[in-house]
Amino acid sequence: MDAETITNRIILRHPTADDGMDVHRLIRQCKPLDENSIYCNLLHCSHFAETTVVATKNGKIIAFATGYLLPERKDTLFIWQIAVNETARGQNLAKRLLHSILLRPVCEDVSYLESSVMPGNKASLAVFKSVAKELGTGCEESVMFEEDKHFKGRHETEVLLRIGPFSSPKRKEYGT
Ligand SMILES: CC(C)(COP(=O)(O)OP(=O)(O)OC[C@H]1O[C@@H](n2cnc3c(N)ncnc32)[C@H](O)[C@@H]1OP(=O)(O)O)[C@@H](O)C(=O)NCCC(=O)NCCS
Repeated sequence: MDAETITNRIILRHPTADDGMDVHRLIRQCKPLDENSIYCNLLHCSHFAETTVVATKNGKIIAFATGYLLPERKDTLFIWQIAVNETARGQNLAKRLLHSILLRPVCEDVSYLESSVMPGNKASLAVFKSVAKELGTGCEESVMFEEDKHFKGRHETEVLLRIGPFSSPKRKEYGT
């Protein structure tokens, strides 16, 4: 492998607290993601590192997916946010991030993947539908948090996507 290939390689790894600020910056660049506090992103990069992944290229974070196992249903991985820097989109990176978390030992007993999307976010919906297809299973939609009832009109309704059930062999390893 030549030096240029090595330098441009995308590496997927667990985050550490040292990544919190870079994740926070990337979220600000990736509309329409909700911006949360830096503290919140630090928690995700530390307490939830086992179910969170960052992608780096030449040492810089270019994408991430944050998630957690539902406290009451450990068979379900909930993806909180996923973002890919504009320059790296359209190369299956979002899907790679999701599969890479599913392939980790912590997800051994996971057979459902959930996330929520705003109805207008076509890209986000397309990513999850495509992952459902690759996992050989369906993707059910239902209302998770309502604009008026839960957000008091300050945020669009969030639609819950529930993908599954699926089994380990369906999880896909993408090459670098
Ligand atoms: C959504 C996002 C993460 C997708 O990242 P990506 O790396 O470009 O996605 P992928 O290349 O893995 O694409 C996966 C699938 O989604 C489809 N897709 C991706 N972007 C799309 C778009 N803008 N419109 C329609 N389909 C799209 C791809 O065609 C692909 O489908 P396929 O597998 O059937 O060929 C990226 O656009 C982003 O960061 N957006 C801003 C933040 C955001 O909205 N995050 C999601 C909400 S939590």
